[in-house]
Amino acid sequence: MIPVVLASENPRGAEKWLALIQQHFPDLQAHIFSPDAGGPRTDVRAAIVWRPPAALFERYPALDLVFNMGAGVDAILRQPGMRESARIIRLEDAGLANTMIEYVVYYVSSITRGFAAYEQHKAERRWQPEIHEPVQAWPVGVMGTGVIGARIANTLSQLGYRVSGWSRSGKPIDGVTGYAGQEQLGAFLAASRILINVLPLTDATRNILDRQLLSQLPAGAVLINIGRGEHLVEEALIPLLDSGQLSRAVLDVTRTEPLPADHPFWMHPAITLTPHISGPTNHLLALAQIRAKLNDAMQGKPITGEVTRSNGY
Ligand code: GLV
Repeated sequence: MIPVVLASENPRGAEKWLALIQQHFPDLQAHIFSPDAGGPRTDVRAAIVWRPPAALFERYPALDLVFNMGAGVDAILRQPGMRESARIIRLEDAGLANTMIEYVVYYVSSITRGFAAYEQHKAERRWQPEIHEPVQAWPVGVMGTGVIGARIANTLSQLGYRVSGWSRSGKPIDGVTGYAGQEQLGAFLAASRILINVLPLTDATRNILDRQLLSQLPAGAVLINIGRGEHLVEEALIPLLDSGQLSRAVLDVTRTEPLPADHPFWMHPAITLTPHISGPTNHLLALAQIRAKLNDAMQGKPITGEVTRSNGY
């Protein structure tokens, strides 16, 4: 039996993980972290977490394998008290990429095909095909070409879009024009009529989507943010939409979640909002991945998806 502690900011989420572990991985002896459950436990070396509280690392000082229930590990790295030697492991795809691809294809195609017009036509009993620009007229830029970004970029290129990818290293992706680093950022932006952000949130990428960056997109560009709310300087967005520099923003993430009821994004006609649902974790695929990596790590074998703390992802 391998003891594992589960800690999630969402208590119902933790219970669901626990039930699935009990059903499918009975050799894991899992329990849910409780802030008032007594003294430190040094027998537990592995945790599965989503936005865990700082108290987890005080109560479980021997944790050396911290598995994230999602892809982005920013909330774990923000917590003090974790041992320097603890290894943090993010999910690699585990079903996330497919759901995020669906999300992107839904919004990209509804914009490029102008599907919203037909809702209006139907209400008016009007049978009227609209003229739309071909996919080639909608070059797409994907910021962040990790496991998920690369799959999104590749899928859009297979649908006929001209796709660019931007990352630190400019990693090559089939069918995608790669741009690397700060030097090539301007050229990448100039080539992106639709900008999709899938970057990890790190000190280097926080507030990256600011007025200066978004002003380098072609006029009337579309922003799709499925990374983190803190990538976007929110005050910059509405003036850019109102001036026509951007024609639409599709936001799955916001700086404060849930978005406060008095936030101006709710009422803006050019902003589409979804409540951080583009890539829900597929619990069973995630658990199978975590289980396999836990095994390998315990046998001293190399594992992928391990976070390099100095990079922040
Ligand atoms: C979701 O936001 C994730 O990081 O998996």
